[in-house]
Amino acid sequence: MTSAIRPVPGSVTVRVPAKVNLQLAVGPPREDGYHPLVTVFHAVSLFDEVTVTTADRTSLKIAGEDAAAVPVDRSNLAWKAASALVKATGLRGSAVCIEIRKRIPVAAGLAGGSADAAATLVACNELWQTGLTQRELMVIAAGLGSDVPFALIGGTAVGRGRGEHLTPALAAGSYHWALAFGHQGLPTAQVYATIDRLRAARAARAAGPATRPAHAASAGTPPPGEPELSHPLMTALRSGDPARVGPLLSNDLQPAALSMQPELRRTLAAGREHGALGAVVSGSGPTCAFLASDAAHAREIAVAMTGAGVCRTVARATGPAPGAVVVRDGQLA
Ligand code: C5P
Repeated sequence: MTSAIRPVPGSVTVRVPAKVNLQLAVGPPREDGYHPLVTVFHAVSLFDEVTVTTADRTSLKIAGEDAAAVPVDRSNLAWKAASALVKATGLRGSAVCIEIRKRIPVAAGLAGGSADAAATLVACNELWQTGLTQRELMVIAAGLGSDVPFALIGGTAVGRGRGEHLTPALAAGSYHWALAFGHQGLPTAQVYATIDRLRAARAARAAGPATRPAHAASAGTPPPGEPELSHPLMTALRSGDPARVGPLLSNDLQPAALSMQPELRRTLAAGREHGALGAVVSGSGPTCAFLASDAAHAREIAVAMTGAGVCRTVARATGPAPGAVVVRDGQLA
C-alpha cells in the first residue's frame, strides 16, 4: 500500500445490496463480547447507493428510507470506512463528500449500515485510485464491522468467526423474497444480549436447584451451543429449489427479536398463512423474510402482508444479488 497516490477529481457511485441470513447459528459469547457465528449470508436486490465526491472537508448527506435516523458525523460507519481507507493507504489530505441514498431500512437486520460502509470503501478506492484488491478491502472491512466484508462480495456465502470470515456458497437458481419491515428498529447489540439472557434463564431452569455435572465439556466434544453449519440447507441451496430451502431457514436470534417485539409473531404467522415457503426474522430483526416460489408468489405474499396490517411496509427482492459495484453512466461497471 502506497502514500504517493494523488486523488483524482470527480465522483464515484457504488450500488450495494442488503442481506438476509438463511441460517444464523450463534454460540455463547467470546471473551471479547462477540458471539461466534456460523451464518449463511444471502444478498438481495434491495440496494443503497453511495456517491463520493472530492471535497475540501469530509461530510455526509443521507437521503431516502429512514434518513433522519442515521448519524451524519464521524460516528457513521461510512465515514469510518473512508477514514480507515485513508489510514490503510497512508493517503493524506483526502476528503470526500459522502452521499447515501437509502432504500435499506435502518436497524432492520438487513446490514444497511454495513452495506454503506462497504460501498464507501469501494467508491473511495476508485475515486482515489488506491488500487486495493478486494481481498485488501475485506481486511479493512472486517475491522469496521462483522457484516461489512459480506457486503463487498454479495451472492451467497458462509460466514464464520463473528461473521467476517467468508466462504462463497454453491447456490443454484434465484430466490424470490417478500421482506416485511417493522415499525421500529432493533439495536443489534441488545438483541445479542437478550439471547444470552434467554439462554441463561433456560439453562438455570434445566439445571434446577442442583449443581450441573462437570463432564459436559469433556475433551473432543464441542461445548454445548457451538454453532454448526446446516448441511441440509447447503444441499437444498445447491438444488436451487425454494420449496426445499424454505423449511430449512433458521435464526438463533429469532427468539430474542420476538421477545423484544412480540408483534413479530403475528407477522411471521401471517406470511406462513399466505403460503410462504419459509418465514424467518432476518439477522437481529425486526425485518421478517418470506421465501416465495416465484416472482408472482412473492407479489401475492407482499400484497397479502400489506393488507393484513402486520408490518410497516413490504418490499420484494430477489437473491443472490452482487456485492458492492461501481455504477458508471447509470450502468454497473
Ligand atoms: O460487528 P458489529 O459492529 O456489526 O456488531 C454490532 C454488535 O453486535 C456488537 O457490538 C456486538 O454486541 C454484537 N455482535 C455479537 N457477535 C457477533 C456480531 C455482533 O455479539 N458475531
